[in-house]
Amino acid sequence: IRPRLVLGIDTSCDDTGVGVVELAPDGSVRVRSNRIWSQTVHAQYGGVMPELASREHVERIAQIAAEALDEAGHTLGDLDAVAATSGPGLVGALLVGLMYGKGVAQALDVPFYAAHHLEGHIFAAASEAELRAPYLALVVSGGHTHLFDVPRSGEYVLVGATKDDAAGEAFDKVARLAGLGYPGGPAISEAATRGDPDAVAFKVPLQGQKGFDFSFSGLKTAALLAHRAGAAPEDLAASFQQMAVRTLVNTTLRAAEATGRATVVVSGGVAANAALRAAFQATGLRVVFPGRGLNTDNGAMIALAGAAALHEGRAASSLSEGAVAYAP
Ligand code: KG4
Ligand code: ZN
Repeated sequence: IRPRLVLGIDTSCDDTGVGVVELAPDGSVRVRSNRIWSQTVHAQYGGVMPELASREHVERIAQIAAEALDEAGHTLGDLDAVAATSGPGLVGALLVGLMYGKGVAQALDVPFYAAHHLEGHIFAAASEAELRAPYLALVVSGGHTHLFDVPRSGEYVLVGATKDDAAGEAFDKVARLAGLGYPGGPAISEAATRGDPDAVAFKVPLQGQKGFDFSFSGLKTAALLAHRAGAAPEDLAASFQQMAVRTLVNTTLRAAEATGRATVVVSGGVAANAALRAAFQATGLRVVFPGRGLNTDNGAMIALAGAAALHEGRAASSLSEGAVAYAP
């Protein structure tokens, strides 16, 4: 039997992402393509302009989808299912990918799956290893710092989240105040290789908490004070990164001990961080990270979530499924 083919679409923010995934009869998956159009029009405004993002998605979506299929060696008619992000994200932007995906699915008479953006981030790791529940999933991006317990496939229990800034947002803000440029994550990571991680003392966030929440605003404020006091940008980067990594890893480790989970998926833009990966690998837990190019927002991760739904025989979503700005 030939593998089934799933198209995945993510237009939740300012990237038009379309990917193609192959689903073998035994449930194993292979990412065949992952095309991304990153919008640049927003740079001049210093932030994402929702209306402009929607318009650019409309202009690009068909082309990016064609490129993704082409790279995978397929055409639209080969698809067995289509998945698109329905939220959370910018509603106008989400609607573009959602409507394109529904249209393709309806025209081909194949199942359509509305996907949760965070479930997509988690399933990005399925490119590297089979995700078999139970496991913990830490999603760390520019917009999210969420720790989920996944007791059964498709069931997500939020056990912790940031009380203020997202982890990636903190990397971006500290990089900006230290004059290290944008995006902050890679800039901090690079500068940190030349700095002393013990040069600037940071207080452990939420020290002594019983729960599994995160906080980054205190680190950001401490970084600003250290910068004003003359700390070198490299030392600031190394010290901040060390504490950010420590709080992410230690809290997740405590949650793993409390829930008895032995596997943890770490995904989202910040999961590309080398120091974070090394620290997680040293925990003794089985740690799964997304493959190359699958950490940041993309369409292949949505195709992977759709492939899991298809493999499990989940009912297709309604074609009247709406877009949601904030999803639980
Ligand atoms: O997942 P993503 O592309 O977008 C959101 O959905 O938010 O994540 C982007 C975030 C940015 O804040 C960026 O600074 C951070 O991921 N990031 C990193 C690294 N690469 C990207 N943070 C730390 N270290 C990195 N190497
Ligand atoms: Zn994301």
